[in-house]
Amino acid sequence: MGHSLAQTFAQAGHPVWLHDVDEAILRRARQLIAANLRTFAEAGLLDAGAVAAVVDRVRTTTSIASACEDADLVVEAVSEDAAVKKELFRTLDVVSPGRTILASNTSYLDIFRFVETGRPERVLITHWFAPPHIVPLVEIVRGPETSQDTVDRVRALLVAMGKKPVVIAKFLPGFIANRLQSALTRETLFLLDNGYATPEELDTVTKASFGLRIPILGTVKRMDFAGLDLTQKVIANAQYEPPPARTSSPAVDALVQNGRLGVKSGSGFFAYGGRSPEEIMRERDLKLLKLKKFLTDMGEL
Ligand SMILES: NC(=O)c1ccc[n+]([C@@H]2O[C@H](COP(=O)([O-])OP(=O)(O)OC[C@H]3O[C@@H](n4cnc5c(N)ncnc54)[C@H](O)[C@@H]3O)[C@@H](O)[C@H]2O)c1
Repeated sequence: MGHSLAQTFAQAGHPVWLHDVDEAILRRARQLIAANLRTFAEAGLLDAGAVAAVVDRVRTTTSIASACEDADLVVEAVSEDAAVKKELFRTLDVVSPGRTILASNTSYLDIFRFVETGRPERVLITHWFAPPHIVPLVEIVRGPETSQDTVDRVRALLVAMGKKPVVIAKFLPGFIANRLQSALTRETLFLLDNGYATPEELDTVTKASFGLRIPILGTVKRMDFAGLDLTQKVIANAQYEPPPARTSSPAVDALVQNGRLGVKSGSGFFAYGGRSPEEIMRERDLKLLKLKKFLTDMGEL
């Protein structure tokens, strides 16, 4: 997430310091940013001559003090571990100027319970979606002491960058998008584990049905189109029982045991023809960029 976040701010014209504890990771981050920008150029969304200028706006350092000494905003995207984040915020509070807003990209941790800084009014969660240089949503989650001014400034910054921030009034595990995604994942794994459908069939059903409608109708407007009287009947249908909560899935466990971890290992539920993860991601990103442009031009994004 870190390199992609740095790229997103740099593409919007902001000078960025990208910090990590490991110089090799920073080297790799610069390569990934350049490759991502070439994909934008290939999709016709960035002048090929502008790639170098964007890359140059991202400076990298293993010194957190250098990275933060003149920062207006810090976006933390370290490992999803409360102890690591707690310690990092302690450091950020010391090395950042008093004006700096400190944002966490946590996926599910209630950082407001354990982060201690002298500026709780300037601490919040900005939860981005992978890949953040393409996906527009950023969930802004305020803590009990986050000021309205902080929320307003971060929201205005993200809007100016072409992002779609949604403010969530208080911490809720999974925020909004991950809760919706989790409900779908739970049902998907129930159907797979109980032999109702193959992975191919499930993705065909998803893409060829509500998947096509979602970019236009979302999940709420869809109910208006279906008719709320019908929706009432669907809710009342006692025959539908959501799958029970589980802590594992035999289908996933079997794949992981065989080293099939998904795109990063070359195969998961599907095989990817021996192509590198970079190639597979590039193809996905090109398609996502084209779809996003189409939906933006249609006024749907
Ligand atoms: N991967 C996703 O799709 C996704 C989506 C939304 C949010 N997030 C959240 O973003 C954060 C990062 O996720 P990721 O998938 O990029 O993780 P990752 O493990 O790929 O990267 C974490 C990076 O943090 C660095 N790091 C660890 N401790 C550090 C420290 N003390 N100081 C500086 N750097 C440190 C590591 O070297 C590593 O490069 C997590 O909180 C995760 O929950 C991830």
